[in-house]
Amino acid sequence: MSSSIKKIGVLTSGGDSPGMNAAIRSVVRTCAFYNIECLGIYRGFQGMIEGDFKEMGPRSVNNIINKGGTILKSARSKEFMTVEGRKKAYEHLKNAGIDALVVIGGDGTFTGSMVFNSEFNFPVIGIPGTIDNDIFGTSHTLGFDTALNTVVDCIDKIRDTASSHNRLFLVEVMGRDAGHIALNAGIGAGAEEILIPEENLGLERLLESLKRSKTSGKSSSIVVIAEGDKIGKNVFELKDYIEENLTEYDVRVSVLGHVQRGGSPSCFDRVLASRLGVKAVEALLEGKSNFMVGLLNDEVSLTPFEQAVKSHSEIDLELLRVSDIMST
Ligand code: F6P
Repeated sequence: MSSSIKKIGVLTSGGDSPGMNAAIRSVVRTCAFYNIECLGIYRGFQGMIEGDFKEMGPRSVNNIINKGGTILKSARSKEFMTVEGRKKAYEHLKNAGIDALVVIGGDGTFTGSMVFNSEFNFPVIGIPGTIDNDIFGTSHTLGFDTALNTVVDCIDKIRDTASSHNRLFLVEVMGRDAGHIALNAGIGAGAEEILIPEENLGLERLLESLKRSKTSGKSSSIVVIAEGDKIGKNVFELKDYIEENLTEYDVRVSVLGHVQRGGSPSCFDRVLASRLGVKAVEALLEGKSNFMVGLLNDEVSLTPFEQAVKSHSEIDLELLRVSDIMST
């Protein structure tokens, strides 16, 4: 492939997610395959501002495909939000001879990249990395599948106590403003009810459903709640509310937290990261810029950054229906 691009910089930015290392590995090795130099940029845009770069050859990414987190570290840079900060970053890239960037992160990363591209006409391609799966233009973001497996594993364990003590557990999961983790992991873990921001179940309906499940003979229950749910009560207030209104229930709360962001990536995330990394480098070599690579109908495809950040990926309404039927 003949291209004017001879050196590519790669960085991870925003919240880390399992599969980021596999994506770095893929970008580095694809560069090597096409005889392009690759520089790793530490701590996202902040490292770009400070010129914190390191040469990366194919052997520098040995034994990282199975590692969670990001070997390049990640940061949310306030300085990159200023014109002066971005100018510094551009100077460092030029001095290091970097012609193009692959950025791995979420919508904040892509928004920053778009601004940078518009100011300096600097080629950038993005890879979606976040457990939240909230980015338009891809059915799966890196880390989502691993996070689902972690959540299901945790709830399976919680179920042992729920069932042994005839309890109701409220399990809060991450997802920022989106309910993808809650909905998918909730179905996978056999939750009684799933509360997500995209669909307001309402307190009355929740109580009705819990009453029904008691009278239908269930002795224990799991309710999965997305952290961004808008039911009007946080998970601890919800516990008190349920215990006040349904005295037959003994309720416990478990907030899973950052355990969902760590760990070895699933096979799905490793394969996805490998595919997206190849496509990101090839897109740059073909002269493309300002796109996110993603997976649509199991095909790797490109979505303009502008579209990727403007809309969020939609909740699958069919999953809500399935969840309703399963709680019968
Ligand atoms: O975007 C990933 C995510 O883990 C969200 O699910 C969560 O709301 C947020 O990041 C937590 O951010 P922090 O690690 O900065 O507290």
